[in-house]
Amino acid sequence: MKLPDFLEQDRVAVDQALDRLLPPATTPPETIHQAMRYSVMAGGKRIRPALCLETARLFDPDPRGAMEVACALEFIHTYSLIHDDLPALDNDDLRRGQPTCHKKFGEAMAILAGDGLLTFAFETLAKAPIEDSRRVRAIAEIAAAAGTVSGMVGGQVADVEAEGKPVNAAMLEYIHQSKTAALIRASCAAGALAAGAADDDVARIRRFGGKIGWAFQIVDDILDVEESSAALGKTAGKDQQQHKATYPALYGLEESGRKAAQLVTEAIDELAPYADRAERLRELARFQTRRRA
Ligand code: FPP
Ligand code: MG
Repeated sequence: MKLPDFLEQDRVAVDQALDRLLPPATTPPETIHQAMRYSVMAGGKRIRPALCLETARLFDPDPRGAMEVACALEFIHTYSLIHDDLPALDNDDLRRGQPTCHKKFGEAMAILAGDGLLTFAFETLAKAPIEDSRRVRAIAEIAAAAGTVSGMVGGQVADVEAEGKPVNAAMLEYIHQSKTAALIRASCAAGALAAGAADDDVARIRRFGGKIGWAFQIVDDILDVEESSAALGKTAGKDQQQHKATYPALYGLEESGRKAAQLVTEAIDELAPYADRAERLRELARFQTRRRA
């Protein structure tokens, strides 16, 4: 899909850094490095890296180490897509417009490619050129967001266990907050941390990210109903088919759209103290309700 110009600039820079950081496809054992590269380099909007880079730039125009953090977030995100698509989870054939990792490399290699990316993300973070205490705080922020206690794995557990059951508002909020919003929130907070932001700025940016992250998953649910597989690069209509707990299932499409728009407005309100400096972040926030993929 067509991204706004500055997001497209970030995407190109992130793609170059991902390619530079990942082990070459010829590194033994070659199959795993091919599989990792296949899924990471398959495209993707690079929203989490862009949020990390743009929040970092709010506090430092040339933030050292932010690109490594941005790439680590994309490695974790890509691992989650690979595992989410496995037969034991959502069992999908299409991702980022291409056959899923297990369709291309087999199930064993897809599991291991996910494991490899998750591990490599933390190696990348540990080596990022950021002052020690800030690097450790960024690592803790991201690890918690990817974990089991209100993090991505916990959200995925709730998502799996909610399948086919009647949707309830509290459970739906837990799933959205944990499965998706947590990593997006951490992408923003880690960018601010890497760039040396003060504690109250990190907290503000974390609130911004949580709202954007929640809006992001509501929009993802809406697009699953409204868009085609070709537009999404993944199988459309899956949520209803698998009886998933989603925003449209509980509230309908119109109310879901209103909720996403309201969250984006609340997120943008958090950026008031940064005036003109936050314009790119505002643009990124507004993009969430405009995107069609
Ligand atoms: C699409 O991101 C992804 C989501 C909306 C997140 C869904 C959550 C999971 C798949 C968590 C799975 C967790 C585990 C532990 C398996 P996107 O639209 O940014 O995709 P893109 O990077 O391809 O653009
Ligand atoms: Mg899933």
